[in-house]
Amino acid sequence: MTTLDSRQEPTQATEATVLASSADLELLGSAQGELRRFLLEYRFGMEEVRTKISILQQEFLALHDHNPIEHVSSRLKTPASILAKVTRKGVGPSLGVVRSTITDIAGLRVTCSFVSDVYRMAEMLTGQPDLTVLRVRDYIARPKPNGYRSLHLLVSVPVFLSTSVVDVPVEIQLRTVAMDAWASLEHKIHYKYQADVPDDVTRPLLEAAESANHMDTLMEGLHHRVHSTTPIATERRQARDQPSVPNSATAGRR
Ligand code: GTP
Ligand code: MG
Repeated sequence: MTTLDSRQEPTQATEATVLASSADLELLGSAQGELRRFLLEYRFGMEEVRTKISILQQEFLALHDHNPIEHVSSRLKTPASILAKVTRKGVGPSLGVVRSTITDIAGLRVTCSFVSDVYRMAEMLTGQPDLTVLRVRDYIARPKPNGYRSLHLLVSVPVFLSTSVVDVPVEIQLRTVAMDAWASLEHKIHYKYQADVPDDVTRPLLEAAESANHMDTLMEGLHHRVHSTTPIATERRQARDQPSVPNSATAGRR
């Protein structure tokens, strides 16, 4: 066992410290390299899924004349945030443990126009044969007690590296604009009160979630109504462009 010997000559102690530091630095250097590679895999996984979403969005826009997505954002957890979560969960900080327990290192948030778009996007994504669905949490069908609504998918995507293929978990949160606005406000409130939100804030927040839900229902209804009827401008244009049919009543009078 290595112990500090107080009788050691000062010069020896200094040398030992220097030696230990260079070994530590080497260890740190290799750990940093390992961490960089580890996070790179998650970045690639995130980019793979982001591309899939972008392709679906563009195809949908081209074929159905409707953009189901308002906004897509992505984020990679920082090493500090991974460490904080590992500590919170009370698990060891080795990369193997992190890989198996922290599933939201790579995260994407897809903000859709309507609730039907949320489910349609989720269906189109999870139906892709190279994606493995690891978990689905439907907080739209079953909102959280605080009013939170979103559809969470945890998928695994293969990433083809130069010498190997790794399966990377990516968390995808799908929600509507109204759900996103609510979640953003709730996040700020939660942060401000450090999870101890007073009742006179919790209640109106829940009411706001219900209003957002009501708005989603109204907007969806309007969207379907507008899409199932031909716009007046199109009707007028079609009438104008149609070759004029001679009126049988007046035909041949000249
Ligand atoms: P985490 O350990 O925080 O990842 O939670 P979890 O593993 O139980 O997963 P869950 O699917 O419940 O939530 C994951 C993520 O969804 C969170 O990191 C948030 O981004 C979001 N989320 C979940 N619940 C809420 C909520 O009540 N309010 C807000 N604003 N966001 C939430
Ligand atoms: Mg999370």
